Amino acid sequence: MEFQAETGGKRRARTECAVIGVHERSELSGEALAIDGALGGRLGRILRGGDFAGRLGETLLLPDLGAGPAARVLLVGLGSTKSWSRRHYRRALLSSAQALLKCGAREALVTLAAEQVPEVDAYYRARYVAEAFGQARYQIPTLKSTRKPAPPKLAAVRVLVAERGDLVAARRGLEHGAAIAAGSAVTRDLANLPANVCTPTYLASFATRMARSHRKLTTRILGEREMKRLGMGSLLSVTEGTEEPARLIVVEYRGGKAGEAPVALVGKGVTFDTGGISLKDPGGMDEMKFDMTGAASVLGAIKSLALLQAPINVVGIVAACENMPGGRATKPGDIVTSMSGITIEVLNTDAEGRLILCDALTYSRRFKPRLVVDVATLTGACVVALGAHNSAVMSNDDSLAEALVAAGRRSADTCWRMPLGEEYQEQLRSNFADLANIGGRDGGAITAACFLWKFVDGMKWAHLDIAGTAYQTGTAKGATGRPVPLLVDFLLSNP
Ligand code: BES
Ligand code: MN
Ligand code: ZN
Repeated sequence: MEFQAETGGKRRARTECAVIGVHERSELSGEALAIDGALGGRLGRILRGGDFAGRLGETLLLPDLGAGPAARVLLVGLGSTKSWSRRHYRRALLSSAQALLKCGAREALVTLAAEQVPEVDAYYRARYVAEAFGQARYQIPTLKSTRKPAPPKLAAVRVLVAERGDLVAARRGLEHGAAIAAGSAVTRDLANLPANVCTPTYLASFATRMARSHRKLTTRILGEREMKRLGMGSLLSVTEGTEEPARLIVVEYRGGKAGEAPVALVGKGVTFDTGGISLKDPGGMDEMKFDMTGAASVLGAIKSLALLQAPINVVGIVAACENMPGGRATKPGDIVTSMSGITIEVLNTDAEGRLILCDALTYSRRFKPRLVVDVATLTGACVVALGAHNSAVMSNDDSLAEALVAAGRRSADTCWRMPLGEEYQEQLRSNFADLANIGGRDGGAITAACFLWKFVDGMKWAHLDIAGTAYQTGTAKGATGRPVPLLVDFLLSNP
């Protein structure tokens, strides 16, 4: 899909569909008024006649408008002016995109980005347009045997900006938004695949294939033998119970200066989490195919950066394995030695994410990263604490935590900081090893982060727990593509 930014004015080309936003109980203004004039006041009559109230996300398509400036008009409700916000703007964009993709127009003129939105500048107003179309167009790669729906006709979206001076920012916003949408789609595709397709081997070959299509990307895949040689006893303890071989996937994106320290992104890639010998409850266990979304979001973010040729060096490190029970599986009470030398008593085999991440974090040291961010569907406790709206961020560096929170707010992919602390750390004491892998029920998301904290001494580090935000459950079950917008925004902000 092509995006183009343009200013208003009389000489503008006719459009197949003009998208016009209308607030509740308000009149047409700006560009809408001009279009209405050319349509003989038809839009105003529709509003006055009570056929369109302007409720947030409401849409009304007026087709077959003849030879005027627009063959169709799509009215989109913006809700009340009082509560107009970033969130409502994005909601209106998504409804517009969904309605547009259903109609017959091959091209559309979106006027929504020309309006002011509190705290949102021209760059983000445009970026959200491209992201919304990506979101609306996304289709889960299903294994349904019914025929696939026909692809939408819409191929080009023209985005109106308020003034000439906004054009440069808007063009950048559209470009970034399209790349973020493409990266999110990669993440969603991988996460939505069933675990019998998306195995560690599959993730590794996906990363290799992705690297082949971008000049600045390279991959290196480590097998279990190499991991053993590196002393990754903690990571390997998780994969003992399965036949499926584990992989450590290293993707390097070199868009910055040669020799410039990279940002390391470390992803949890548990392609299925049964809990192991500490077997999970069967209810909703299918959703544990999403337990590799951290890994998928690392690959998705790198995809976005590669599409943008962003001037930064990033190394993605994905620890991929299955967590299964079995005759050789790790048992509660087993003690393993991590790559760092720290010994771990595995009191619960279902707390496996931290066991693979600690070795991946230790491995990241060899890249001398200027900072490390790990991304993981790490704890159910995080979902209890923050629900589905915010990821959790924990960090040993205040400015890094603040930068991530700010990037989350700007990209509407928010995260909320939670604490680390010695007092929590004490919950991880073991009588038999340096560290236990669980810290009890209380503060479960925090003790999980505290476990990882033990392995990042001397590194600037942040942990994102995305257990609540990575995917939706219920009838809308599926991956959300989060936290790709957050990660890309953060990485583009020159951290
Ligand atoms: N993958 C789960 C965390 C999770 C739970 C993600 C729900 C998404 C939704 C993780 O491996 C896990 O099982 N964590 C345990 C830790 C506990 C044993 C300390 C949990 O949260 O119950
Ligand atoms: Mn688990
Ligand atoms: Zn898990």
